[in-house]
Amino acid sequence: MSRVAVVTGGASGLGEAICAGLAADGHRVAVLDVDGDAAEKLATELRGRGAQCVAVPVDVSDEAAIDDAFTAVRTEFGPIEILVTSAAIGGFTRFDKITLDEWNRYLAVNLTGTFLSIRAVLSDMVAAGWGRVVTISSAAGQQGAPRQGHYSATKGGVIAMTKTVARDYARHGITANSVPPFAIETPMLRRQQAEGKLPPDEYLTQAIPAGRVGGPEDVAAVCSFLCSEAAEYVNGQVIGVNGGAVV
Ligand SMILES: NC(=O)c1ccc[n+]([C@@H]2O[C@H](COP(=O)([O-])OP(=O)(O)OC[C@H]3O[C@@H](n4cnc5c(N)ncnc54)[C@H](O)[C@@H]3O)[C@@H](O)[C@H]2O)c1
Repeated sequence: MSRVAVVTGGASGLGEAICAGLAADGHRVAVLDVDGDAAEKLATELRGRGAQCVAVPVDVSDEAAIDDAFTAVRTEFGPIEILVTSAAIGGFTRFDKITLDEWNRYLAVNLTGTFLSIRAVLSDMVAAGWGRVVTISSAAGQQGAPRQGHYSATKGGVIAMTKTVARDYARHGITANSVPPFAIETPMLRRQQAEGKLPPDEYLTQAIPAGRVGGPEDVAAVCSFLCSEAAEYVNGQVIGVNGGAVV
């Protein structure tokens, strides 16, 4: 069945693979991203593969812009039935060096942006009596991460918020689940390695029983399932895609 899907942070890394996966599943996909050019490039590529896809530039931390963006998706495709939130910023600062500005920016993009995105779709899903919400969180939100006090706090918040949405909206046919990756090969991971903030793969893989860094398609496959009809009875879960790094 073709549904209307929105992916925030859809223009890069995990979001890009999730958009491609949902488009391959036959859904109409809206790529929401602060990088409008990259979002348009992906939407054009997916349309070239026969998908119905639109790009909408938006900063997820901007309440008015989020409402405009989701309205634009409704105008293009109709009520929204699937939401995957992948937009986030990541970085490393020793806890006692995190400035209030930096803290607030992480909260605004990663936590408030996820809140605003979920809030924007719930009325459509309630009216339809069907909905799928998947939040991309992080292993950092499950177990903490060195020099990521701000980031891990936002991701722990995303996990708790997702569980609450699951409890509040289950009776409306809506599921909400969170996928916390550990180390997945994306521009974010490669950037952090290039800056020396994360160790190279040879070291990272020592913490991953599967023996390899994940690929974006590992995460996209699980998102596709969680957004499917078949996943109706999977709700409020934290489903790690991490090669066994967090058990
Ligand atoms: N790659 C990993 O190993 C890893 C590990 C754990 C968690 N994650 C999480 O996975 C998700 C995707 O990360 P990724 O590795 O694909 O990163 P990425 O940097 O490749 O992609 C993130 C996307 O989000 C967009 N974005 C950033 N700020 C935004 C904003 N304010 N509004 C709208 N869009 C915005 C970026 O433009 C980019 O397209 C994130 O939530 C990240 O925290 C990734």
